[in-house]
Amino acid sequence: MSTLKQLLDNNKRWSAKAKEQDPQFFEKLEAIQRPEYLWIGCSDSRVPTNQIVDLAPGELFVHRNIANQVVHTDFNCLAVVQYAIEVLRVKHIIVCGHYGCGGVAASLGHDEYGVVDNWLRHIKDISFANQLELNGLCEQDKINRLCELNVIAQVQNLTRTKAAQYAWDRAQTLSIHGWVYSLHDGVINDLQVTASSREAVDDIYQLHQTQRGKRPNANF
Ligand code: CO
Repeated sequence: MSTLKQLLDNNKRWSAKAKEQDPQFFEKLEAIQRPEYLWIGCSDSRVPTNQIVDLAPGELFVHRNIANQVVHTDFNCLAVVQYAIEVLRVKHIIVCGHYGCGGVAASLGHDEYGVVDNWLRHIKDISFANQLELNGLCEQDKINRLCELNVIAQVQNLTRTKAAQYAWDRAQTLSIHGWVYSLHDGVINDLQVTASSREAVDDIYQLHQTQRGKRPNANF
């Protein structure tokens, strides 16, 4: 009870302060949403999205889930990605993981946590696919390297979406970036895996819009 009262009191103070610093702050925000960036990050409370890149409200479109994943059957994430690309026309999508991610660490273990085990199975698959590299590392390095490999895999997953590929077909400017944030010093490591065209998409994942009136020849 007292905690929630504290939050509502905090909110009143924050609102008053924002209006004091810029009397038009809320009018301007209300009028338009035109962020240039979509941020896909971890739900972890220690990674406050706007703060770590010092951007104001209205400048980042945000999707967060445990261990910053882009799963091909997750319609929540896919809807965010499609809306961001096709309606907001963001120029950049940033997948930002963080070193020491609890979700990534859990995926390397054998404990049960509940439904989240199924969600983290995707990361277990990434660790299995990279076991040769990971097995040579100490526990901490293994977690941190898997945090990087996970971000790289999610960047790839984004390039494999229809929304991204059709945007590139329209010559729409769209770059997909992979970053990892350090809880230790607050600095972001750019993994230099930026994808900006269909060239980043492996052949098997290339999608082509079916021509109007023509049905693809397939029975599922
Ligand atoms: Co995390």
